[in-house]
Amino acid sequence: MTVAAEAKEWVKMERLSKVYPNGTVAVQDVNLTIREGEFLCFVGPSGCGKSTIFKMITGLSGPTEGTLEVMGTSPKQARKQSDTAFVFQDHTLLPWSSVIDNVSLPLALRGVSRKARKEEAERALELVGLKDYTKAMPRQLSGGMKMRASIARALVSKPKLLLMDEPFGALDEITRQTLQLELLELWRRDPRMTVLFVTHNVFEAVFLSTRVAVMTPRPGKVAAMIDVPVPFPRDETFRTTPEFGDIVRSVSEALKH
Ligand SMILES: Nc1ncnc2c1ncn2[C@@H]1O[C@H](COP(=O)(O)OP(=O)(O)OP(=O)(O)O)[C@@H](O)[C@H]1O
Ligand SMILES: [Mg+2]
Repeated sequence: MTVAAEAKEWVKMERLSKVYPNGTVAVQDVNLTIREGEFLCFVGPSGCGKSTIFKMITGLSGPTEGTLEVMGTSPKQARKQSDTAFVFQDHTLLPWSSVIDNVSLPLALRGVSRKARKEEAERALELVGLKDYTKAMPRQLSGGMKMRASIARALVSKPKLLLMDEPFGALDEITRQTLQLELLELWRRDPRMTVLFVTHNVFEAVFLSTRVAVMTPRPGKVAAMIDVPVPFPRDETFRTTPEFGDIVRSVSEALKH
């Protein structure tokens, strides 16, 4: 799958900067247009402003300079319309609520009826392979299952733009690779969903994405945009191809500058 050049401009950052009130320049002069249907990974050293960019895209924090448009409107408006959803590094499930109640929470907050909530949450849990765990409590799930539940919670409102901030960082390598494949499957089922994904792991970035944005150390700028012109579906064999190795090397080189 490739993203056509005429696809809609879904996130548009122009000269975007963020200086926190204490004077920390977290993001400086980022120009980046992300098109509908892309799977874009951000890689960069710790503290280079990746989470700050995500907070701005979801409207949780405003830029200090430049402009940011999300789906033709403001980030806050896009979030209000439930067009954006966010998955954090730690699963952030409520420990006192069952899996299904956690997953249906975004719908409850929007006043969706109990019956519709249940149906939608069950559908989302089935998508992530947790349909037998709807009544379980989060403590009864493994780390990978908790992450699946939080992905279901993000998918339940059928977002057009899914932001994932190092979602698999705390997982073991095997679980991580399984979830990468599952995530690609979910994305392929809904080819118009755009995914923005932060990772420290260059291999993960290349395996998942259509494009990789490589960031410089703070203040974060985009040092390079690297295409991953390899068709989907991708499977485990992609990780062992010379092409994979070449792109991993290009991203690693760009990270050194
Ligand atoms: N609310 C805040 N107030 C002041 N400084 C902040 C705030 N949030 C983040 N920063 C600073 O802004 C810079 C960028 O932080 P950010 O969390 O965006 O980095 P990151 O790239 O996501 O890092 P990591 O990979 O470690 O998650 C850091 O120097 C951080 O200390
Ligand atoms: Mg971060």
